[in-house]
Amino acid sequence: MLDFKYYAPTKVIFGKDTEQETGALAKEFGATKVLVHYGGNSAKKSGLLDRVCHSLEEAGLPYVTLGGVVPNPRLSLVHQGMELVKKEGVDFLLAVGGGSVIDSCKAIGYGIANHCDPWVFYSKQATAKGCLPVAAVLTIAAAGSEMSDSSVITNEDGWLKRGYSSDYSRCKFAIMNPELTYTLPAYQTASGCVDIMMHTMERYFSHEAHAELSSRFCESLIHTVMHNAQILKEQPKDYHARAEVMWASSLSHNGLTGCGMTGDWASHQIEHELGGMFDVAHGAGLAAIWGSWARYVYQENVTRFVQFATRVMDIPEDLGSPEEIALAGIRAMEDFYHSIDMPTSLTELGIHPTEAQIRELSEKCVFFGQRTVGNFKVLKAEDVQAIYKAAL
Ligand code: NZQ
Ligand code: ZN
Repeated sequence: MLDFKYYAPTKVIFGKDTEQETGALAKEFGATKVLVHYGGNSAKKSGLLDRVCHSLEEAGLPYVTLGGVVPNPRLSLVHQGMELVKKEGVDFLLAVGGGSVIDSCKAIGYGIANHCDPWVFYSKQATAKGCLPVAAVLTIAAAGSEMSDSSVITNEDGWLKRGYSSDYSRCKFAIMNPELTYTLPAYQTASGCVDIMMHTMERYFSHEAHAELSSRFCESLIHTVMHNAQILKEQPKDYHARAEVMWASSLSHNGLTGCGMTGDWASHQIEHELGGMFDVAHGAGLAAIWGSWARYVYQENVTRFVQFATRVMDIPEDLGSPEEIALAGIRAMEDFYHSIDMPTSLTELGIHPTEAQIRELSEKCVFFGQRTVGNFKVLKAEDVQAIYKAAL
């Protein structure tokens, strides 16, 4: 087992009607004026936004609101948010939404606490020294931002989608009421399930052979999400299935599933470029490229892919050679993605990048030659290009 640090300071409030506790919690964490940040229309339409604002009023906390966060959240709205926060004297950022809204809050928080354009952090020109306190009322189980140290922002200037991670941005509290996810479109539910599984698989595909507990934990988490994703396809209002998936979303990305192992993260980096250029849903983008990534890299450590195939995808151990078992496991995961109406190619994702666009995506992915991506197999621009092409 490799050495590791594990830090997951977010207070989790899980269950029905928990959004009513928002105001008291914000106060507990020192808020005196709150920015309530949200997305398009879903939180307004469901009445959640009103309930959250009511809870702030009950706690005697003044607030201002800013909606309009879109999936693949934009830097321009982050700048607007910073202006509002400065003008109104806000000292606490409350996200009512999913990964995009939480990430937009984190970026606003970095900008305010460091007195600068937060893009300097996302473009790796500087390191943040702090972040305004952020908290979340979660409405979609997917990105795991409610407990992660990460955020991902898209700069419209060049359509660059870039992530930044630091413990400063970890949510002070996360309210998780599974019922809030009942209104999700089926596509978003499924896309979220893929993202949750992928946060675990990115950590699982490691060469570290001595991390038994983390490996078993990953396998169990992926199993649980697969099982409940199937239930949700038929019964979107199954409380227990929503609850399992919501808790998995947080645990898959708060660091726990990766303790003692090195993560890979190539699939995420390859997908982020698709999100930046084509504005696709993140989880669906991951499903579309994962099989191509897996077939490109599995020979680096066939044993690990055999373990995945037999323990996660229930491929019989006597199916054939290790290579055959590994490939059967990859195919089985793609069959699962299809079973929940997720794509396993770029065509199925609905995009058709040209040769020139594939070259651009690949160069952006490796920061124009300044970095490689992935650890399971270290990938350069030409490898990334081959994976995009295989995924067409
Ligand atoms: O804007 P509204 O109207 O709320 O609609 C949203 C949005 O269209 C809708 N939605 C959310 N909750 C709903 C709902 N619709 C009905 N009922 C509800 N209860 O769902 C759509 C997607 O929302 P979004 O917040 O974009 O989803 P997600 O949580 O998947 O976040 C995706 C973003 O997170 C980033 C992704 O790259 C992407 O930009 N990620 C962030 C990570 C992190 N911070 O740790 C890690 C991830 O790997 C990921 O990269
Ligand atoms: Zn993700």
